[in-house]
Amino acid sequence: MENETAPMIIATTIAQVRTQVDAWKKEGLTVGLVPTMGYLHEGHASLVDRAVSQCDRVVVSVFVNPTQFAPGEDLESYPRDFDRDCALLRQHGCSLVFHPEVSEMYADDAATYVEILSEMPRQLCGKTRPIHFRGVCTVVTKLFNIVTPDAAFFGQKDAQQLAVIRRMVRDLSFGIEIVGCPIVREADGLAKSSRNTYLSPEERRSALVLSRAVALGQRLVAQGERSAARVTAAMSQLISAEPLARIDYVSAVDGESMLPVEQLAPGVLVAMAVYIGKTRLIDNFMVEESAP
Ligand code: PAF
Repeated sequence: MENETAPMIIATTIAQVRTQVDAWKKEGLTVGLVPTMGYLHEGHASLVDRAVSQCDRVVVSVFVNPTQFAPGEDLESYPRDFDRDCALLRQHGCSLVFHPEVSEMYADDAATYVEILSEMPRQLCGKTRPIHFRGVCTVVTKLFNIVTPDAAFFGQKDAQQLAVIRRMVRDLSFGIEIVGCPIVREADGLAKSSRNTYLSPEERRSALVLSRAVALGQRLVAQGERSAARVTAAMSQLISAEPLARIDYVSAVDGESMLPVEQLAPGVLVAMAVYIGKTRLIDNFMVEESAP
């Protein structure tokens, strides 16, 4: 159903969101959810576009979720610009933006978490960010309970997050379609990220080493290389030659379980996290079905 003239609603309370979503559902409209932490870029816009193309109404949450940051991480300095976010969301056809205070989402004595108790959230980013996916699962569960969407949209750049959310939705029988959307890149290849804003001009140039490593890995796979160790070693060597880069990990894992693999076959995720100066960036590619 068309929604071209309705102004975008800005909701700060759970009750406001519930009232509006109930009204839409009574009209028989479908609802899509795009969870974000704000400071939106074209990557987020592509999620909203996809949601708008698939659902009658689209809710975007803008909430820097404290439970997914460990002490010493960038919770306080995480970039924020809500007015700019709203302008972008209006342009892309968002129906309602949910922008709660931390106190609206978490009671002072909140003590309930959603956590996957397998190896999956402990691999890759989970090695250096042990509480991260517990925080993501908890806040996404809360957003699912508040918005009760038909579908929710996440970027493939955060490939482990996407896999974790798919597993959580399966294990907890959420009945919500999870839609993964392709990585959006700058013209020179750098994957779009709100954290790119932390980079100095020199670091910004160095950060290109991530997408160059992705391109190298994809090229080796296209040439028929199937050894995970050889491909990740070649990618690591390229990254290590960049003076401002420090590798956190470059790994090949099963795209669902996140467990390490030895052979590169369709469905394998080749993922990396690399510090450029103090900024930790991630990038990845999936081995395609068409790989020989
Ligand atoms: O990908 C993000 O921005 C966050 O991890 C998410 C999914 C919005 C949860 O806070």
